Amino acid sequence: MPDTQVSQSDNLPDAVTIYEVGPRDGLQNEKQPLSVTDKVELINQLSTTGLKMIEAGSFVSPKWVPQMASSDEVLGLIERTPGIIYSALTPNMKGLELAMQAAVDEVAVFGAASEQFSQKNINCSIEESLQRFEPVIKEATANELKVRAYVSCVVGCPYQGEVDASDVAKVAKELYDMGCYEISLGDTVGVGTPASIIKMLEAVMLHVPVENLALHCHDTYGQALANIYAALQLGVVTIDSSVAGLGGCPYAKGASGNVATEDVLYLLKGLGIDTGVDLEKMISVGQEISTTLGRQNQSKVGSAQKG
Ligand code: HMG
Ligand code: MG
Repeated sequence: MPDTQVSQSDNLPDAVTIYEVGPRDGLQNEKQPLSVTDKVELINQLSTTGLKMIEAGSFVSPKWVPQMASSDEVLGLIERTPGIIYSALTPNMKGLELAMQAAVDEVAVFGAASEQFSQKNINCSIEESLQRFEPVIKEATANELKVRAYVSCVVGCPYQGEVDASDVAKVAKELYDMGCYEISLGDTVGVGTPASIIKMLEAVMLHVPVENLALHCHDTYGQALANIYAALQLGVVTIDSSVAGLGGCPYAKGASGNVATEDVLYLLKGLGIDTGVDLEKMISVGQEISTTLGRQNQSKVGSAQKG
């Protein structure tokens, strides 16, 4: 692999945290629900790669997202590696209660910068969602659980089209002010380019410190790595990704999976940025889950290295 000497003027961080969302964002959109055993196996394998953050499931309505219905079982069966945070989505108090029963290490609420997406995804307006999240964040914090927040549709929405950077900044600020330690900015439909991502990040960074932001790219239009590179130059040091590029969003038709973890790791390794994650091990995990699911590996790096 060609390792490039990156000049200081590129303004890149020394280290980046990879937030692996494959077992949640990836599997929530698979047509065939994966068995509990296979989900547990995936998470156990991911736990050997050096990852520190693994989103292991989602405590949402099983009627809305049946693929995540077994999250309690999965969290009960995985081998927990000390030092790894196993997190889950919790859209309301019911979700938080179930997540706490399953002994998650961290929870995440998820809102949107687009009204229509909010309605389709969580059946309420943006304002109602923020009111709903408030007690979740309070109760989680009182139980010493850190709370992450997602903002979906940060540059585009499948229903509304373009999304204003100021709308993203407003929701991100409210969630940060409510006590979320990190705001993950989701390009849910993967339509962003470095120009729109930079504009959006600059608007959000006026209200939320950049070290408390993460970028969550779906790769529908193949722009994710370029967008991540642009975000790194602005100081973003947490990147969400999904092994083998699994995923999509059940309420964003046409949205493809998250950017593949293997591809992000390859980019970061080439730039000399430390992640603590073993690329070769991640490639093996990606190949195995793709085989289990009977789907093509969406990671370019994983596909290139397939024996
Ligand atoms: P609702 O129908 O308005 O909720 O759904 P409700 O409070 O009226 O309850 C309806 C039923 O759901 C009741 O059951 C509740 O008990 C049950 P019933 O009486 O009909 O039998 N229920 C629950 N069950 C289990 N766990 C819960 C829960 N809450 C209620 N937590 C709700 C509102 C938010 C629950 C629903 O809309 C929902 O579950 N939505 C989830 C949608 C989802 O998971 N989307 C994908 C994740 S977000 C995403 O992928 C984007 C992201 O990756 C970032 C990006 O890419 O942009 C994060
Ligand atoms: Mg997503």
